[in-house]
Amino acid sequence: MATARKRKKINKRKGKYTHEQINTKLDTYAISLREFYLSLRRAGFPVDQALGMCDKNVFPDWLTPSSPDFDQLIQTMTPTKMRMIIKRIAFVSDLQVPFFNESSVKSVGRFLSKWRPHRTICIGDEIDLPQLGGFNAGTIDEMVGNINDDRKQTQEVLSYLGVTDVLGSNHGIRLYRSIKKRLPSFLNLPEMQYERFMGYDKLQIKFHPFGLDWAPGWTAVHGDAFPLSQIPGQTALNGARRLGKSVVCGHTHRLGSAAFTEASRGQLGRTVWGHEVGNLVDLSSSGMAYTRGYANWQQGFAVAYVHERKVQVVTIPINSDGSFIFEGKLYK
Ligand SMILES: [Fe+2]
Ligand SMILES: [Fe+2]
Repeated sequence: MATARKRKKINKRKGKYTHEQINTKLDTYAISLREFYLSLRRAGFPVDQALGMCDKNVFPDWLTPSSPDFDQLIQTMTPTKMRMIIKRIAFVSDLQVPFFNESSVKSVGRFLSKWRPHRTICIGDEIDLPQLGGFNAGTIDEMVGNINDDRKQTQEVLSYLGVTDVLGSNHGIRLYRSIKKRLPSFLNLPEMQYERFMGYDKLQIKFHPFGLDWAPGWTAVHGDAFPLSQIPGQTALNGARRLGKSVVCGHTHRLGSAAFTEASRGQLGRTVWGHEVGNLVDLSSSGMAYTRGYANWQQGFAVAYVHERKVQVVTIPINSDGSFIFEGKLYK
């Protein structure tokens, strides 16, 4: 009688390594590297040639579009694989909601969602608050529009742009001035504090009433306290020379840059920069009718790269259809 064959016990093979979830860009990069090597081998390349070709410079673009070494802003710094991160910062200003330019805001928002700044600073005048403007005090214009609708729209626009910080400005302060003049006892109510009133605390947007030092030797302020110039960049430079540090500002609704280099006894000293970041208003809106078509304003925004004390600010003009070109690419 044949003995029953002993069933072989099959153990599940345990691999030496456990496969963990793909979490980082480095994981993606390593996986793509392996896949590239295997494809080269399948294509008939010998081991040494395939290994030699596993260099990021010969990778096809579509293979690892988001691998860390393809991010032009992040470069290998030291042999110990420490990475040098150049911080990206975006600046937008003077949206004057509800009088903002929808097509410009859309194209800037699309760009920012791809460019992924570490910080997006709104330089102020994000909301117009025409109802609280000094010009309109005591007139029917105090009743035009709806502050709650304007506030909600401002929150939506700032969220769409990914704004992380908002600076104090002359339009924002209309709330404070109006309460101070008419109902001063309301001033100490916490819900009337600007960041609470605008709901920025819930959106995790930080409010900086007096400006923000965003890089060593650089500050961002709205600009309403500086001596004004009609020449783009000059108001910011006036502020920079006054403050003794480089300035990014708005308020003028102009876009431009200017610099001043100090020198003494043939020795060059420091250079301070002034950058004005333009505006995102709709000149054809009712709120901008007071300009009567003669505004010396330029639509635009700005970005900055920061590595330690090295800073570069780039101002970007926006075309009348809301499109713009940045680093060789058209955004609309
Ligand atoms: Fe403004
Ligand atoms: Fe302003």
